[in-house]
Amino acid sequence: MKTICVIGIGYVGLPTAAMFASKGHKVIGYDLNEKAVNALNRGEIIIEEPGLGDLVKKVVSQGNLSAQTSCPKGLDAYIIAVPTPINEDKTADMRFVESAVNAIVPCVRKGSAVILESTSPPRTVEDLMLPILAKTGLKIGEELYVAHSPERILPGKVLEELRTNSRIVGGINQKSSEVVKSLYESIVEGEIFITTSTTAEMCKLMENTFRDVNIALANELAKMSEELGVNCWEVIKLANQHPRVNILSPGPGVGGHCIALDPWFLVEKSANAKLIKQSRINNDSMPMFVLNKIESILNGLEGKTVTLLGVTYKPNIDDIRESPVMHLWKMLEKEGANVKVCDPHAGEKINNNFDIYSACENSDIIVLGVNHDQFADIDFSLAAEKMNGCSVLDTRNFLNEQEIEKAGLKYYLLGKGN
Ligand SMILES: NC(=O)c1ccc[n+]([C@@H]2O[C@H](COP(=O)([O-])OP(=O)(O)OC[C@H]3O[C@@H](n4cnc5c(N)ncnc54)[C@H](O)[C@@H]3O)[C@@H](O)[C@H]2O)c1
Repeated sequence: MKTICVIGIGYVGLPTAAMFASKGHKVIGYDLNEKAVNALNRGEIIIEEPGLGDLVKKVVSQGNLSAQTSCPKGLDAYIIAVPTPINEDKTADMRFVESAVNAIVPCVRKGSAVILESTSPPRTVEDLMLPILAKTGLKIGEELYVAHSPERILPGKVLEELRTNSRIVGGINQKSSEVVKSLYESIVEGEIFITTSTTAEMCKLMENTFRDVNIALANELAKMSEELGVNCWEVIKLANQHPRVNILSPGPGVGGHCIALDPWFLVEKSANAKLIKQSRINNDSMPMFVLNKIESILNGLEGKTVTLLGVTYKPNIDDIRESPVMHLWKMLEKEGANVKVCDPHAGEKINNNFDIYSACENSDIIVLGVNHDQFADIDFSLAAEKMNGCSVLDTRNFLNEQEIEKAGLKYYLLGKGN
């Protein structure tokens, strides 16, 4: 049994804390957000993640997990899972990591391990954390173990992936890697690979960048297809018959706290990251591309009513951070459109949440922004009765074209040229 502090009990920190607690470790979540701390101490959660509510309730009632708004002293391990957002100028905002590491300094003891889980720019452990941790007076790597172990979990499948994914542990020396590896072995069934901290930072960033660049390619294909009069979805389906090709799906942009941000950490650190930068620009241009498409379908936006179905950054989760559909929503309103939103997952986070058919009242166009399961069987005849106009724009190739046309509506698909 180890004593562990998880700093930041959000989407990553809370499931991690609960998993360690479920294996019999004594875990304390340290967070500045009193709402999250109080909820956890009641055995409740304030985020949506399948299975997490039950697990937290169980480990809190067993006395293995609690939370507080100050950093506990003298524990075996301190795991940092605080946000790493970007600034306006796309550089990394490392203030949360910096303040978390500073909070740890008076708390660690000889033999403690400090683990950075937050996705961070290359050399964060070496250049940002180690100078701060030197203030502990402990011999780094001998009396205080330090490593980066990036998180790869998929929202919606977090508990399963925490257990089954393989994991990278990048220690500042071999001993640090070994100490941290043995800690994670209690929750991880996948393989744990040991490397250096900077290699681990690069690995995580390249994993997300790989996806971002490939999505940018799919989005570029969607734009070209509209220009050249082909259906990109058919191109993708057929091209992917090639045994070594796997083109991803286009969409209204890339969001979330990871893929939409992390590639910028590389752009900031290296002038060679040219393809990576252009891919970010491509993906960030998609909400505007969709806006222009809506405008051309409706012959203008001023005074038009747009029904937006789904605003999260991906289906079947409640996370709206960096969501391209949230950007689209703002841009539509800026152009004078009246936007009515329906999102069965993010409902509590947005002030404008209707049920599907109320959101269609007097609408000129329905825009499917996110393919939540709840949108799979919309009754388009009922929607058509409520609408003012007759257009449906599908940005995910998710809706049933025949059903829509049968209801007397006109179906438009992102990436399909006329
Ligand atoms: N969300 C994901 O799916 C995911 C996946 C892999 C990696 N990551 C990375 O994990 C990190 C955390 O992301 P998240 O989604 O869990 O963030 P989050 O916003 O859900 O949670 C972070 C928590 O940290 C708290 N916090 C901020 N500064 C603090 C401080 N100085 N001391 C104590 N608590 C503090 C916040 O109050 C918040 O509760 C990020 O670097 C992110 O890129 C996230």
